[in-house]
Amino acid sequence: MHASDPANGQNPGEQWGSQTGFILATIGSAAGVGNVWRFSYVAGENGGGVFLLLYIVSIALIGLPIIIAETAIGRALRHDHAPATQRLRQLRHWQAFRLVSVVAALAILSFYAVIAGWALRYFVGAVDGSLLRIAAAGHGEFFGTFIAAPVEPVIWHGLMMLATTLIVLRGVQKGIETANRILMPVLFAAVALLAIYGMTQTGSGDGLAFLFMPDWARLGEPEVYLAAMGQAFFSLGVGMAVFVTYGSYMPTRQRIPTAALAIIAGDTLVAMLAGIAIFTTVFAYGINPAAGPELAFITLPKIFVALPGGRLFAVLFFGLLVAGALTSMISLLEVSVAWFVQRTHWHRRRAAPILGILIFVLGVPSALGYGTLASIQWNGRGILDSIDFAASNVLLPFGGLMLLALVGWRWGRQPALIAANLDRSAWAPAWFALVRWITPLLVLIILLREFVDG
Ligand code: PHE
Repeated sequence: MHASDPANGQNPGEQWGSQTGFILATIGSAAGVGNVWRFSYVAGENGGGVFLLLYIVSIALIGLPIIIAETAIGRALRHDHAPATQRLRQLRHWQAFRLVSVVAALAILSFYAVIAGWALRYFVGAVDGSLLRIAAAGHGEFFGTFIAAPVEPVIWHGLMMLATTLIVLRGVQKGIETANRILMPVLFAAVALLAIYGMTQTGSGDGLAFLFMPDWARLGEPEVYLAAMGQAFFSLGVGMAVFVTYGSYMPTRQRIPTAALAIIAGDTLVAMLAGIAIFTTVFAYGINPAAGPELAFITLPKIFVALPGGRLFAVLFFGLLVAGALTSMISLLEVSVAWFVQRTHWHRRRAAPILGILIFVLGVPSALGYGTLASIQWNGRGILDSIDFAASNVLLPFGGLMLLALVGWRWGRQPALIAANLDRSAWAPAWFALVRWITPLLVLIILLREFVDG
């Protein structure tokens, strides 16, 4: 089989323009609403420092080995024509994994785009100043009314999907890589400025203590472990084919373990800086950090109103959310576009708009789930939360397990190690033991817990 044969499983000829292309785009995929909005409230609810510690352990024991495995298989299926590798593609197992990953990508993107739309609305409100003119006490009501409106959330959600589609249809280098080259520096600058700003506020020390000082008593609570592992999955975006897809555009000379370390470092740095920015500010204003999912959209805007220079803070904060969301949405759309192009042999210029519109339509119920469709609930969860729950807590870990089984049990140790650039590394036994035994066991524990607890 030739590398440019579409039946090879990837889009012919597309590749990152440079070594940093892959790293920037994967950090772009990983760093998003999950690092800012989800990380801060999950950390708040799960005791801060202890959560952070367990989160970092989960990144090392679950996230890192899966990123390496996903990237290795993605690149090898395109470039390595050894029978042991090419055989993988024929396996039902592989096709089932790709299907699960595409379903997970569609599902996650459909609700993620809605939250991204809220962020865009708030960004515009910060830029034109209207957000700062709402009385502090009115922010809860403002947010509640906005997300319950029948048309507005759908429009903002549509705008975010439109931007994502326009970028993805331009291709790997011109679209995805260029967008990440512009948005990622913006994201890093915004989060760093916010963290510095947060630390200069009086009372910020309590926020730092909350984020970094472990309250050891909480180590006894199993939920904290599960929350940390679930957050690691979602925040890195592992368990679906993001790294397979982006890895297939990676040049053969680039070393996967180094890239994987850069990715987890970059993603964790964004989460920590966002955590510092948020908790120093929240503590400086004496607010309960366990404020829940509304932390970003109600609690913080309330503080921005009172803050000197609050408008700049608000612009940076919601700009950060929008930039992070967009680079993550691009990767989610690309997972299904790459799969679709390979299946139908359509051009991406045709596949991207069709899938973009499909995802937009799939997201409409999530966008209306707080107003017109608020009566639709399962187990006390609305539409958006239910899809988030099913996709993040079930499909992602399930996809992760399928991939680990494929690499750990069916590929063969030597071909997998070579593909991962670990064949001559002292870390080879550790990585393979993680992929084969330890990581799947940990993931299985999360999955079982979800099912047992319902
Ligand atoms: N990791 C992204 C975030 O933290 C979300 C995401 C999930 C992206 C799954 C890709 C795949 O916001």
